[in-house]
Formats: sequence, C-alpha cells, structure tokens
Amino acid sequence: METSNIIEVTHLNKQFLVDKQPMEVLHDISLQVKQGEFITIVGHSGCGKSTLLKIICGLVGYEDGQVERNGHPVTGPGPKCGMVFQDHRLLPWLKIKDNVGFGLGDLPKQERDEKVRKHLELVGLAGFENSYPSQLSGGMSQRAAIARGLANNPTILLLDEPFGALDALTRIQMQKEILRIQEKEGTTMVMVTHDIDEAIYLGDRIVVMSARPGEIKDIIEVDRAAAGKRSGAEFAAYKKKIYDYFFEDSDEKYEVEYVI
Ligand SMILES: Nc1ncnc2c1ncn2[C@@H]1O[C@H](COP(=O)(O)OP(=O)(O)OP(=O)(O)O)[C@@H](O)[C@H]1O
Ligand SMILES: [Mg+2]
Repeated sequence: METSNIIEVTHLNKQFLVDKQPMEVLHDISLQVKQGEFITIVGHSGCGKSTLLKIICGLVGYEDGQVERNGHPVTGPGPKCGMVFQDHRLLPWLKIKDNVGFGLGDLPKQERDEKVRKHLELVGLAGFENSYPSQLSGGMSQRAAIARGLANNPTILLLDEPFGALDALTRIQMQKEILRIQEKEGTTMVMVTHDIDEAIYLGDRIVVMSARPGEIKDIIEVDRAAAGKRSGAEFAAYKKKIYDYFFEDSDEKYEVEYVI
C-alpha cells in the first residue's frame, strides 16, 4: 500500500515584486513528502528556501501551481503545521517560559507548565524560564524557538536553518535530539540548512536547489545507515555529490580529498 503524501507541492511558481518589477523566486517546484519523513533542503542564499517553507506553512501566497497538506489547501483545515523561523521571532515582552508556552493557551495551567519545563530542559535552557529574550544569547534564543516549535506538537514541523546560531557541539546534540523526537513522535519534518553534513545526517531525502530562481536540481535518497557514519565513504560520496551541484554553475571545484 502506498503511503499518502502529507505535503504535496505541484508545479509551484512564486514571484515577488521588487521595485514594482516581478522577480521570479521559485520556478516549477514539485515535491511530495510522506507522513513521518524528514526532508532537508539545501541551496544558495536567496534561492527561495525560506519562501518555500512559508508557502507550505500558508504564510505566503503564490501565483501558479498547487500546494496541499493532506489534500487540503494550506489555508484550509489540515494537519497542524508549525514553523521555526530563521530568526527566532520570540516575543520580547514575554518571559522565555511564556514564549515557549505561547501556543498552548487551551491546556490546563499545570499541563502547560509541565510541557514548557520539559521542552526547555530538552534544549538545555532549564533555569532560564523567567529570563526575557534580550537576556539570552543568539543561540539560546534559537533554542527557545525550537522548544516553542516542538512544544506545540505539530504534525508537520518546518524548520528554517534552526541550528545556524549554535556552536558545533550543541548543534550535534540538537541534531541527535531532533532525530530522536522525530522517530518518537512521527513528526513530518522539512528543514532548510546551509550545513551539508547536517542535511545528510538528518534527511531521508535531500532536496538540492539551484540559485534563484530556485528550481529543484535533484532529490537525493539517503541510506540512513550510511548517514549515521559521518566519517564513512558513503557519507563523503553524498557530500561530494551535493557540492558538485552547488559548484555546477561556477568555476570553483570541490576538490577536498578524503582519507578513509
Ligand atoms: N516579502 C518579500 N518581498 C520581496 N522579496 C522577497 C520577500 N521575501 C523574500 N524575497 C526575496 O526572495 C528571494 C528569496 O528569499 P528567501 O528568503 O526565500 O531565500 P533563502 O533561500 O531562504 O535565502 P537564505 O539562504 O539567505 O536564507 C530573495 O531574493 C529575497 O530578497
Ligand atoms: Mg532563508
């Protein structure tokens, strides 16, 4: 039996007006995501990755094509969809605990507090419940935004470069944690990242986009066993393939030799 697609993007085109002139941002994007899948998206800066996530989330409209979640238009009823933005977007006048609990207003207080506590602990922010966003570092604010995204228990979680502001160790810890949560909760995740290793480590499939107007160059299926071994030959082969796509339209070459 075929698994149904929870996200279906079909022949999507998107333009923005810049100086009253249309600028093509996304061109003929088609992507199907199955329930419980982890999709990573890589591509040059400005190629339309954030715009694509915002369209899937229903925050930004589009000209042509079709975008559906479980067969519903993104503005209609459908699976609960959350987004962690590239900038953390915490509300500056609310304490961290209230930012994380922001979407949980319909829960009884005790349950809400417990959820907030659990998710702050998960991202390593226990003890900062009563701080305000201005009192946290960039990476800590980003972790609070991830906690807010997860606490809402969405069926689909869209993550826009969520670990960009984190140090290498915290980043690796958060990557493991997000995989654990995804496996446990069965959340469908679509994550934009500029980190090629991260795209391979997390993605069941990696969407490689061209420079603007963003088109899909390739969708690479990842062997999960190989992706777990960051120093392995197969991991290196995925990496080379993605870099080659990145450098396709330039004179640069990806010539790092791997000693395995
Ligand atoms: N609201 C908007 N109005 C006009 N142009 C916009 C708007 N939002 C984005 N753009 C333009 O659309 C293009 C794609 O932007 P987007 O933020 O989707 O890129 P991105 O791939 O996420 O880049 P990055 O990797 O740098 O985050 C950019 O040229 C940007 O200037
Ligand atoms: Mg972006």
